[in-house]
Amino acid sequence: MSLSPYYHVIRSQQFTLDYIEELFDLTDFMKKNEFNVSSQLKNRIVAMLFYEPSTRTRLSFESAAIRLGASKITTENAREFSSVSKGETLEDTIKIVQGYSDYIVLRHFEDDSSEIAARISSKPIINAGSGKGQHPTQALLDVYTIQENFKRLDNLCIGVVGDLLRGRTVESLVYLLSKFKNNKFYFISPDNSKMKDGLKKYLLESKIDFVESNNLEDNMSKFDVLYMTRVQKERFDNVDDYESAKIILSNKNLNYLNQKSIIMHPLPRVDEIAIEVDNDKRAKYFEQARNGLYVRMAILSIIERNKK
Ligand code: CP
Repeated sequence: MSLSPYYHVIRSQQFTLDYIEELFDLTDFMKKNEFNVSSQLKNRIVAMLFYEPSTRTRLSFESAAIRLGASKITTENAREFSSVSKGETLEDTIKIVQGYSDYIVLRHFEDDSSEIAARISSKPIINAGSGKGQHPTQALLDVYTIQENFKRLDNLCIGVVGDLLRGRTVESLVYLLSKFKNNKFYFISPDNSKMKDGLKKYLLESKIDFVESNNLEDNMSKFDVLYMTRVQKERFDNVDDYESAKIILSNKNLNYLNQKSIIMHPLPRVDEIAIEVDNDKRAKYFEQARNGLYVRMAILSIIERNKK
């Protein structure tokens, strides 16, 4: 399915460089004018359809909608508290929710859920995290945060650490950063959680450099961005495999990281970043989460403009 990023937001591959530039300019604007944009989505209703737990994505989208003057309707545990628990399909749910709202923000446990929804929906679908697949609005806020810190999105060395097999944020991030010249990736994970083959195949075919390792410190001095991720406990079959899949960042191994580097994490963290690291000036993960509000305001605003 060919997708315009100006309507449905489904996966990072769909974002053009023009779209990213426009979005980040608008995000800058939202950051400066957070309290002066309340007419942009006046009389609109944004539906939050969340089949998996969320703090940042759901609440920042809700805040974004409210800041822009929209109202929101929400099912924060759709798997249990919506009619899905009675056996209703995703397709039927979308056909109903589209009649009650102008936008549908969807988090779902199936990798292809947002694509399925977009195929049948008469209202824009925004993927707020789909199974082990993608989390494209997270990637946009991640890349916005990188641009804020480095004033560029090319010639960067990015260390991506943790559960790369089951994490959806890293897949979306790597696809998005691959659009910019001369970025190099280091994939650091235990052997039971290595980066997905499909993404590595894409990087090889696109002649984009990447290195795989299971040691955090080996190449750390080269990283501009150290992107830590949570081990996805809920997606493991065996708890022993989960325990062996952890890589932890503490002040001890931070000594290997360049002073100009930044530390990111999509959050929530469990224990993969020690609390002591929060005081390091390179730790940007709370700013990163805050940027989620402004990026999501800009995403909704761009769709609204292009619908008119
Ligand atoms: N980063 C992220 O998606 O966080 P939530 O699961 O809290 O939305």
